[in-house]
Amino acid sequence: MIIEKRVAIVGAGAVGATTAYALALSGACSEIILYDIVSDIAIGKAIDIAQSTNYSRRGTVVRAIVKPEEMVDCDIVVVTAGVPRKKDMSRADLLNVNANIVKEVSLNIKKYSPNAIIICVSNPLDVMNFVIQKITGWDRSRIIGMSGALDGSRMAYQIYNKLGFGASQIKAMVIGEHGANMIPYPELSEVGGVPLKKLLSKDDIDDIIQKTKNGGAEIVKYLKTSAFYAPARAISIMVEAILNVEDKIISSSILLNGEYGYRDVSIAVPIVLSRGGVKKIIEVELDDITREKFDLAVKSIKNGISILEDSNFFNK
Ligand code: LAC
Repeated sequence: MIIEKRVAIVGAGAVGATTAYALALSGACSEIILYDIVSDIAIGKAIDIAQSTNYSRRGTVVRAIVKPEEMVDCDIVVVTAGVPRKKDMSRADLLNVNANIVKEVSLNIKKYSPNAIIICVSNPLDVMNFVIQKITGWDRSRIIGMSGALDGSRMAYQIYNKLGFGASQIKAMVIGEHGANMIPYPELSEVGGVPLKKLLSKDDIDDIIQKTKNGGAEIVKYLKTSAFYAPARAISIMVEAILNVEDKIISSSILLNGEYGYRDVSIAVPIVLSRGGVKKIIEVELDDITREKFDLAVKSIKNGISILEDSNFFNK
């Protein structure tokens, strides 16, 4: 049983609010607090979600806060704040805008919830997770980027679409960048204990890889905005893994410190999530092709970090 566990969600947009709703449904924590710079959004959504909890498994308190200093004693803070890319914005522009938002949020978390575990959802995900780590200066085990949980569920969806069976039995592993250099990993994926490669042809698997990588963009194409149900569920699965007793392997973005041959970069690899955050980084030996993809993913994320370094972001 979970007693008195408080989860804050920063950013009450579609992803943040849907995460609050998913958590309220699952009963993973005792209290959810929603914060947004537009207070009315946080207040309105918190009231709506709070009113849904009368029929929930357990009574979760849901409320909005209007000042960051009310974000006290949180066990977990989920950071979804940031702006989507606008028409006239370059990638570097977006990076700088979101890094500054995430920096401010990180400083507030450090001040008001110094023992929290942070789940980063803001994009570009791996770079933002690195920013939070640098700004808080906290142990890397407490700063976790939500990527593999979502990308894995997107891969599982594509696997089911090909197979037509085994829906609840699919385990799909995605590592690398949460973006163009994402690495859906069929060798570490299976259905009911049967390796994917024994069930599907190379062409089918290649198609699954492509569609998984395009998973977020496909939704943007139809909705003109990014996904939120699957991201919210992926976040709530991570929250549950942190607050529950059973430790779970979930691919997530984490600062590497020599693992996989890299340091000073945050990227998705399989980790064991537990009460204290990241308990262990699982180092799987990568085959040559995957190693090449992993190197490219690191390069791309490091490029994002160097854009921030060039603008003196970390020293300001
Ligand atoms: C996506 C966002 C949530 O991949 O990162 O849809």
